[in-house]
Amino acid sequence: MNRNDWQNPKILQKGREEPRAYFIPYETEKKALLGRRDDSGSFISLNGEWDFHYYNAYYEIPDHISEWDRIEVPSNWQMKGYDIPYYTNINYPYPVDLPYVPDDNPCGVYRRRIVIEDLSRDVILGFEGVNSCFYVQVNGQEAGYSQGSHYTAEFAITPYLRVGENELCIFVLKWCDGSYLEDQDFFRLSGIFRDVYLLYRQKQGIRDVFFTTSKDTIRGSLDYRGGQKRSRVFLYDGEEAVCTAEASGSFEIRLEGARLWSAETPNLYTLILECEGEYIPFRVGFNTISVSPKGELVINDQSVKLKGINHHDTHPKNGHVMTREELRRDLILMKRLNINTIRTSHYPPAPAFMELCSELGFYVIDEADLETHGFCSRKRFYEYEDYCDEWPANHPDWKEALMERAYRLVERDKNFPCVIFWSMGNESAYGRWFEEMSLWTKARDPKRLVHYERGCGVGSPDCLDVDSRMYSAPEEVEKEGRAESSKPFFLCEYSHAMGNGPGDLQDYQELFDRYPRLIGGCIWEWADHAVEKDGCLLYGGDLGEATHDHNFCVDGLVMADRSLKAGSLEAKAVYQPIRAALVGSNPLRVEIKNTYSFLDFEQFEINWRIEADGELHAEGQFFPAIGPGESRTVTLETSLPKDCEMGCYLNLTLNRRETCSWAEAGHETGAVQLALPVPFRKRQWAGKPAFWKAEENGCYLDLIHENGTVYRFHKIHGTLCQIRKEGKSLLAAPMHLSLWRAPTDNDRKIKHQWGLFEDNMMGWNFNHLFDKCYELTWEKREERYVVTSRGSLAGIGRCVAVKYTISYTTGEEGSLQVATEAEVEDVIWLPRFGFELTLPYETEQLRYYGMGPYENYSDMCHHTRVGMFTSTARKEYVPYIKPQEHGNHTKVKLLEVWDPASEQGIRVIAEEEMECQVLHYSKEELTEKKHRHELREGQTYVRLDYRVSGLGSASCGPPLLEKYRLTDKKIRFRFTISCK
Ligand code: GAL
Ligand code: MG
Repeated sequence: MNRNDWQNPKILQKGREEPRAYFIPYETEKKALLGRRDDSGSFISLNGEWDFHYYNAYYEIPDHISEWDRIEVPSNWQMKGYDIPYYTNINYPYPVDLPYVPDDNPCGVYRRRIVIEDLSRDVILGFEGVNSCFYVQVNGQEAGYSQGSHYTAEFAITPYLRVGENELCIFVLKWCDGSYLEDQDFFRLSGIFRDVYLLYRQKQGIRDVFFTTSKDTIRGSLDYRGGQKRSRVFLYDGEEAVCTAEASGSFEIRLEGARLWSAETPNLYTLILECEGEYIPFRVGFNTISVSPKGELVINDQSVKLKGINHHDTHPKNGHVMTREELRRDLILMKRLNINTIRTSHYPPAPAFMELCSELGFYVIDEADLETHGFCSRKRFYEYEDYCDEWPANHPDWKEALMERAYRLVERDKNFPCVIFWSMGNESAYGRWFEEMSLWTKARDPKRLVHYERGCGVGSPDCLDVDSRMYSAPEEVEKEGRAESSKPFFLCEYSHAMGNGPGDLQDYQELFDRYPRLIGGCIWEWADHAVEKDGCLLYGGDLGEATHDHNFCVDGLVMADRSLKAGSLEAKAVYQPIRAALVGSNPLRVEIKNTYSFLDFEQFEINWRIEADGELHAEGQFFPAIGPGESRTVTLETSLPKDCEMGCYLNLTLNRRETCSWAEAGHETGAVQLALPVPFRKRQWAGKPAFWKAEENGCYLDLIHENGTVYRFHKIHGTLCQIRKEGKSLLAAPMHLSLWRAPTDNDRKIKHQWGLFEDNMMGWNFNHLFDKCYELTWEKREERYVVTSRGSLAGIGRCVAVKYTISYTTGEEGSLQVATEAEVEDVIWLPRFGFELTLPYETEQLRYYGMGPYENYSDMCHHTRVGMFTSTARKEYVPYIKPQEHGNHTKVKLLEVWDPASEQGIRVIAEEEMECQVLHYSKEELTEKKHRHELREGQTYVRLDYRVSGLGSASCGPPLLEKYRLTDKKIRFRFTISCK
């Protein structure tokens, strides 16, 4: 192994085949039409168990390896017990001293035997992904070398083979100069991590094909192995051949009235090219892609908005290895969440992924395997330097290394219908090689648009077709929307989905909907990256990395095991294709809009329900024939209830009528809730307020109702410290005001201003709050007792944050009204403001009228609706890998929490609306624990909040929008508490 190969940006391969379009030849037309490569006689998978030996450094490999372990291929060796998974984001895991990598460069040696029965055809050895570089040895002879982890590498190994048994040895090095170009934010993992195969090819025959489509035409060009040949071309619609042609160098096929391909209508045809007895199929989509003078993205003459996600290959047990079935499962889940676009961050996926995207319908931004982010931090500070010779983007020695990453991307994927943009890479600054890559790409494929976000470093270079940004605040995005430009504006990353969130999706979507030039964006990112070990999910720093970025890899819209969280459903709701508004209430008239670009609503039914106080009043169904982009007003034959106590709503759901490849009939694609103008009636109390008495007892004051309810106040602390009913204590600790919430990942910056952490000068120390009671007084006003507590809340070492007066007034049926007036002093905006109650653990059951059934916050609530819901404290828990605030419900008017065994508990009725949370984990527990497996349940913690600040996506995105912050200076908050 020549050190000069893998520490030299000019040596990128030895003996590797020229890149070509992905295809597999078949021996019959029928097999080609089915297109299952494992059934092709030309394709032999080499996946499976190989001999393996891991060396901590390549120079330790002896001339003869006598002992072997066994390893599964494909796999990442760090996930199989060799070396450690290593999570680092920006920093390289070694010094920036290009093109050198550490001397102790680990190496995995893979060996297997292959039996070759005939050598009349050429044998190609293909790898779809090997990290980071590798040598191929056949029967002891070196047959090739390659780098570029996420690209296909093929070697014509025929000259090294003999009929019968042959030995294949692959030497994979952990690092190479190419690793400088692969500084993506993920676990650094090595080995043969994608499929390996042998391909038998005719000595002469098709080498490469490139075709582009329009609405009715396919134009293709062909390149042959060993000299020009003739091919036959067939176009199939399903199983029926609809066109045929003959071709040598190029061909053209016209199909009048072809059904067009879009993400919403993924109509595919099959093109089969036959040459020398090889039948080579391609899935074809007819479509056009262009940009309007207003900067809209136009597909098949329609303006299209990208509702996207960034997808990394990630699996908690297998690292970067994903099977076709697992990829399919990801894509099906995305379809179900109304996602229509995928950016393949930050490398080309396996060809199978591209096939599946074409088939299921996704617009794909196909990205080169290229990121040099760590150059930003090589001198500690964080900075991009454009046109800087120290960066590969502009370094004289690195031109070919970068160019190759564009060639291999485009050449492999150029025929997949799903590709709409080519992305030149990520976070690698800007320089002349990006210009050249973009210009080459444009010339090679004039149909697709060229994207590279860091082009923004130098304005809006002409060689890029899209103005792209990441994490711009809505305000900046709006400015771009207003700007006069014919270039589309795209957020290749936005709404950082880390932990509990994202909270800002709707705000962005409204802008995308309003401005033609804002073509949408891709949420960062699809799934949490984590490493599962002994049933625990681990992240950066847990594996012994020397430099790491903690849980910044745990930032998925879905969890590591692909289970959904509230943020997933929020994306589904914001991306849904239906909008609805009330236009009249007598009769009830609703305007419904179909926001699809191509699909009619005829494949859906709309189910509607009117609920008053959570109870069904009327329901029905209709079939909305609404064309794409169109609106219609529908009249519902029903009357409204005459009044309600808590609220009356119309709930609409858009359900699929038929089963399709990614959803069952009945699947809910969208849901809208509209408040109905129904008058409120005042709550009727059965009893009278009377029959209270007061008793003083040392530090305590008891207010006792004749039905046996006792409210006990602490005269020094000013708190309601016990509620007793029939001798049973309902509180496990005094009810008190607080401001803290266990920081979410999105609070990771603001938490240092809210609370006391490492730096004891930065925060308002709300996590070390003192509640000072200035005085507690009580009096009897007519039949009611009124206890008033005046006091303040202040963080340790800080001035007063809040001054409050709480009045507790006895009421009907043993109830107690709690009225709080508070003034917030000149401090930072609050995480939340409200009461905390600690109830015994067994007080487990809850029922509420408010936003549910999933957790929600003022800015992440589009996935929920107001209604009457039941739950339990246990079910309210959301297993974020890193524990944090969760389980909130907004717009709550009624909350009951009780012990299902004794049926005893409390009921709280808000005068207006409040926010609530019921969990078995205290905010301290959720603040301190670093992993979910460390969490220990305590009692039942109930929060009754005036308001809770929103979530946003500031873990990487802009600070929480002002409108979602709790900035109120005067607070008035009232509710009534009673025993259930
Ligand atoms: C972006 C980057 C992503 C990821 C994200 C933070 O800067 O492109 O790869 O690091 O931030 O999660
Ligand atoms: Mg990065």
